[in-house]
Amino acid sequence: MGSMPAPLRSDAWYAGQDRNSYIHRAWMRRGAPDSAFEGRPQIAIANTASDLTPCNMHLTEVARSVANGIWEAGGVPLELPVVSLGETQVRPTAMLWRNMAAMAIEEMIRANPIDGVVLLGGCDKTIPSLLMGAASVDLPALVVPGGPMLTGTFRGVPLGCGTDVWRLSEEVRAGTLSNRDFQASQSAMIRSKGHCNTMGTASTMGLLAEVLGTTLPGTAGLPAPDSRLAAQAHESGRLAVEMVREGRRPSQIITKASFHNAIVALGALGGSTNAVVHLLAIAGRLGVPLTLDEIDRAGHGIPLLVDLQPAGRHLMEDFHRAGGLTAVLREISDLLDLDALTVTGRPLGEYLSDATIHDTEVIRPRSDPMMADAGIAVLRGDLAPDGAIIKPAAATAALLQHRGRAVVFDSVEDLHHRIDDPALDVDADSVLVLRGCGPRGYPGMPEVANLPLPRKLLQQGVRDMVRVCDGRMSGTAYGTVVLHVAPEGAAGGPLAKVRDGDPIVLDVEGRRIDVDVPAAEFAAREPAPAMVAALARPTRGWEKLYVDTVRGAETGADLDFLVGGSGDRVARDSH
Ligand code: FES
Repeated sequence: MGSMPAPLRSDAWYAGQDRNSYIHRAWMRRGAPDSAFEGRPQIAIANTASDLTPCNMHLTEVARSVANGIWEAGGVPLELPVVSLGETQVRPTAMLWRNMAAMAIEEMIRANPIDGVVLLGGCDKTIPSLLMGAASVDLPALVVPGGPMLTGTFRGVPLGCGTDVWRLSEEVRAGTLSNRDFQASQSAMIRSKGHCNTMGTASTMGLLAEVLGTTLPGTAGLPAPDSRLAAQAHESGRLAVEMVREGRRPSQIITKASFHNAIVALGALGGSTNAVVHLLAIAGRLGVPLTLDEIDRAGHGIPLLVDLQPAGRHLMEDFHRAGGLTAVLREISDLLDLDALTVTGRPLGEYLSDATIHDTEVIRPRSDPMMADAGIAVLRGDLAPDGAIIKPAAATAALLQHRGRAVVFDSVEDLHHRIDDPALDVDADSVLVLRGCGPRGYPGMPEVANLPLPRKLLQQGVRDMVRVCDGRMSGTAYGTVVLHVAPEGAAGGPLAKVRDGDPIVLDVEGRRIDVDVPAAEFAAREPAPAMVAALARPTRGWEKLYVDTVRGAETGADLDFLVGGSGDRVARDSH
């Protein structure tokens, strides 16, 4: 065991011979050796394992490997169960609870006698909430992503979690697949422990955690059942002790350069649009200035190199076999800031020299990208003065410049009620508009922006249309979807004033989304009464706090009083 800087933060609980230190030691002893309280780093393992978060159920096994590494390096591991969010189970949407999870994680890290923390996450909101909370405390911290599940196949065909649910369910609605066959595919969809195996939000955020510098390089993307994940988890435990010893904190690692790298990587990976709100929120916690315009600039001209669903064909197991994250980063190394630090204290660039692409069908070389310019595009215009985004890699190229008349839905319920109505006045060129689904309006900004196409158009063979929404879409989804429109309808954004038949003009190359209605006429309109009537009006509890204080999507949809950090100091002892 190496020498530790004195005092450790945890000494404020354990050192000394007074009554309080007696209490702190005595209640924590429970078989631990005397030396556990004598200058050994106390490392929390913030664990989002939960039976109600199936993607993270295995993290308790991962925690054991982390704990072994912590003991081995001279620290003391302390498992800390934290708020967990199961993306497919939590209502009304897991995003409503991301900030609550982050706040609880922040407070529990700060309140407890710990010197550093290992963050175990997987399912969509878990890694963002862990990083947001840890950033606001700024104790030494690193992430161990739980990893994707293995590929399941149905009748010989690989199934991508999420993406194939959307695809197959639309086939049922189009009448080209029986509901019996659709239901039969269910048991093949989730083959093993781990999170969704597409390049959805969980995969994206695990990989971006590594690009940000917050994981032991070489960890993100390891499939959940892979024994190499256990080995990396063990090493991560050792590293956490070293980070405490050397005082290496998130604020030294997650910098402007890290965010630049994450945005570039997001484009090359074809990652989830959800990464935009999560990166903005994490940056806000650290006081790193990051804007939508910078995301557009850094993401401009980034080639898409990864042929994974939803933008392509393959799945995360293939991605790992093909060389994984470091192979992609090496291809775009000229676009990265290679000096950005990682949790090891070494720069990101040091970990790329041995990286190799093993399968160019899955990870394309720079000379043969899937798409030349694939970064997230940020749009502005009459409909989105504060910004909106689109993922061109998941869109239909022919629709990226489009003009069509609006067909407007005032709520998710209105959408479900009318979308399949044979009398709905809609054609393939129409632009479907869904509003009242922003952070404040729903509340929680649900993943509904990839609204289903009208059945009658599906039956005519239509498979994509331009859609515009102030909500989010699943990272596993695809389509020509303009989302995160800000200000949201509930905050008085222009989306609230659009009417059926208004011409909507999308120009992705020009970065515009406009409504072609005379400005004076549009300005004179009131927000649609049906949308206003459908908005959430919580009167108590978290939902009220959330609706009263949530910021817009363009800044990451954090609560206004959670932006920034409070450090690790606790002003008063536990009396
Ligand atoms: Fe958990 Fe997809 S539902 S990652």
